[in-house]
Amino acid sequence: MSGADDLARRRLRLGMVGGGEGAYIGGIHRFATRLDNAFELVAGAFDVRAERGHAFAESIFVARDRSYDDFTAMVEGEKNRPDRIDAVAICTPNHTHFPIAKAFLEAGFDVICEKPMTTTLDDAIALHELAKATNRFVGVTYTYCGYPMIHQAQAMVARGDLGAIRVVQVEYPLEWMASAIEAQGNAQAAWRTDPKLSGRGGSVGDIGTHAYHLAGFVTGLKAQSLCADLATFVPGRLLDDNAHVMIRYEGGARGLLWSSQVAIGCSNGLRLRVFGEKGSLSWWQEEPNTLSYTRLSGAPEIIKRGREDLDPSAKVRTRTPPGHPEGYIAAFANLYAGFAEAIRARRETRAPSEIGMNVPTSADGLKGVAFVDAVVDSHEAKGCWLTPRFV
Ligand code: NAI
Repeated sequence: MSGADDLARRRLRLGMVGGGEGAYIGGIHRFATRLDNAFELVAGAFDVRAERGHAFAESIFVARDRSYDDFTAMVEGEKNRPDRIDAVAICTPNHTHFPIAKAFLEAGFDVICEKPMTTTLDDAIALHELAKATNRFVGVTYTYCGYPMIHQAQAMVARGDLGAIRVVQVEYPLEWMASAIEAQGNAQAAWRTDPKLSGRGGSVGDIGTHAYHLAGFVTGLKAQSLCADLATFVPGRLLDDNAHVMIRYEGGARGLLWSSQVAIGCSNGLRLRVFGEKGSLSWWQEEPNTLSYTRLSGAPEIIKRGREDLDPSAKVRTRTPPGHPEGYIAAFANLYAGFAEAIRARRETRAPSEIGMNVPTSADGLKGVAFVDAVVDSHEAKGCWLTPRFV
């Protein structure tokens, strides 16, 4: 494996599993890795069908001898190379995250894993424990904590600008699965509606996990208990496509989380509102460069990304000057910049700089899976209040 000196003179070498031709999130990962020049993509098993994977590898200039038939061959092929990959990005459907992450961790690689981290809580616990036992880094791509204004919101809550938090409203409505597109050849919808491939949660696993993570990230609150009502509106669908979850947080704050895949008119409507005893904050993913802040008895203030007086955690994640919009790719790149710094800092046995701190890891992935588990259990128990096993 490469020593610290070598690492200081080169980009991190990344491999990717999934993310081949026609896939969604793998391409976003590739954009994100390029923005800071922190990673180079040198290997992959890009598709569940090997030949398609090889053709895709060729199209993005990954060498043929590092395009693998599957992830097992990739582990074997990479592990003894002097120029082996430093980390693997797992961009496959949910049910494959655990076996792929486990294989790479056991071979000593760092891992960047899509959410939800696993499809079962047992697997999530095992993966988190394995990350600790192997002393490897596991980053989980909770995209939305990459936005600078989310870090600004977190800093404002932490320094008491809102006072004690009373109410947390978070919603993640999407429209794209409002009809049975899974039965009409939509590959992304097909695996998302299959419990064997997606896990116990439908909308709640796919996007509710993002909302839950974001609410906890900004407020720092831990859920004490939750009560869920799931619905499946599209006939024939096997998993929820709409979830309402009431959350009681430690300290008495109340939360309400809505995730929906059938919310016609909502493209990517992730929205967070936090209300405290002295003020409130509101952020919407479709307008991510601003944060609305209102003090008790005050007029709403619009805080804009890029200002000099923002928190250092927001400034370090800001790329373009005020007024030049940043968005999704930049937020995803901030996660990758953080992962790169976290990986380097570990190898060099030093503390990470600001960008490498506060990045989502397997501990957050575990909490997300525990949330899905508790939500489905609560719903199946006719809406009884339950405590997630990890918060
Ligand atoms: P997709 O269906 O568009 O792509 C999946 C890709 O994985 C395909 O290229 C497929 O051939 C490949 N694949 C499947 N099994 C494989 C295996 N065993 N080995 C190698 N390749 C394999 O899926 P999508 O929408 O890109 O989602 C992938 C993951 O990313 C999911 O876990 C999903 O929850 C997550 N996701 C995360 C987002 C975020 O904001 N962080 C947004 C969208 C998806």
